[in-house]
Amino acid sequence: MVITKLKLKNWRNFPHAEMDLGRISYVIGPNASGKSNLLDAFRFLRDICKADGGGLQKALKDRGGVRKVRCLHHRRDPEVHIDVSLAENFDQHTPSWRYVLGFKSEGKGLQRTLVTDEQVWRDGVCILKRPKPEERNDNLQLTETYIEQTMANREFRELVDVFSDITYLHLVPQLLKYGERIGGYQLEDDPFGQGFLERLAKTQAKARSARLRRIGKALSVAVPQFKELRFLKDQMGHPHLEALYEHHRPNAGWQREEHLSDGTLRLIGLLWSLQDGNGLLLLEEPELSLHQGVVEQIPVMIDRIQRGRKGKRQVLISTHSQALLNNPGIDYRGIAVLEPGREGTVMRPVEDDEKQALDAGLSVAEVVLPKTRPKGIEQLELWG
Ligand SMILES: Nc1ncnc2c1ncn2[C@@H]1O[C@H](COP(=O)(O)OP(=O)(O)OP(=O)(O)O)[C@@H](O)[C@H]1O
Ligand SMILES: [Mg+2]
Repeated sequence: MVITKLKLKNWRNFPHAEMDLGRISYVIGPNASGKSNLLDAFRFLRDICKADGGGLQKALKDRGGVRKVRCLHHRRDPEVHIDVSLAENFDQHTPSWRYVLGFKSEGKGLQRTLVTDEQVWRDGVCILKRPKPEERNDNLQLTETYIEQTMANREFRELVDVFSDITYLHLVPQLLKYGERIGGYQLEDDPFGQGFLERLAKTQAKARSARLRRIGKALSVAVPQFKELRFLKDQMGHPHLEALYEHHRPNAGWQREEHLSDGTLRLIGLLWSLQDGNGLLLLEEPELSLHQGVVEQIPVMIDRIQRGRKGKRQVLISTHSQALLNNPGIDYRGIAVLEPGREGTVMRPVEDDEKQALDAGLSVAEVVLPKTRPKGIEQLELWG
């Protein structure tokens, strides 16, 4: 199952937004244009469906309440709306599932948020429509969505599973390296990769070595002298990742994770996640710490590392990388361009004249990226 469409109303800095997704989609826009906010709409659905401690109220509380989530540019309309369509694959023209969620603050000084609209559609037929007449006088029922309740979501568990499988990744190499030593607080779902080595340790040995072998192959293209990757535990039982490089010196030996470069580690984490799990993978700026030449290869690596896998992961990438968008293979159907303005951010697909230029062989970096350049940025040079 894949997510084919997202529509938002009143979500953070988007008064309205709509995007079609592909196998690999890209959100591009300047700083503070709402890329992370857009990814957060998917994380929000995931958080509602979490098996342990999910739910609408908790997902909102973790974000500072409905007041933080609701678009500040849209003063008169208090309702937030999220609408997603899902299909078996991208060739399917009509969605298999559609989920709609609307909510707003209860007001009256109460902290609660109430569901104003919840709909589930299967093959074009509406199988759930809330609020039900009997709920209208019972606000307590409206504090919960049906997708968060196992008793209520039986008929659309498939949809709930898709949301639960969404993963968000914003890898921080230092946390990958020193996660164990820093210890302490780790965010739920570990978006920054702090528990990466633990996760390696928990993976069945056979699957782990197969994945590491694949990562090794991809890395040997990106990192000069890199030869091999292995997992092991030290005498204390602590998990480690080691890489072997071809050096001029013989017996240069294996290097532990703390000696690997930031970019290498980030790439390893990213390539691991692509093979771990099935749902939509949200990748924040995968270009960070990586050489341009390697960044250019990211779309190819995403494809190659999943080759032969039963269910290829759907990936949504936030980026401003020229190198990444230079890739000639990027499908413009999965691109969302963010243009911030006084009334919030406008999200748009690739336009017809841009498509023509792309069809003629130019890259997204050449055609679309320059338009996301913040206005007035040239002024910065005057500061020098
Ligand atoms: N409820 C809201 N209403 C309006 N604007 C909001 C709301 N919540 C957050 N924002 C604004 O959205 C902007 C941040 O967007 P976001 O973090 O998604 O940007 P980004 O494109 O990921 O930027 P970067 O490239 O720097 O990571 C901030 O300017 C923030 O003030
Ligand atoms: Mg961001």
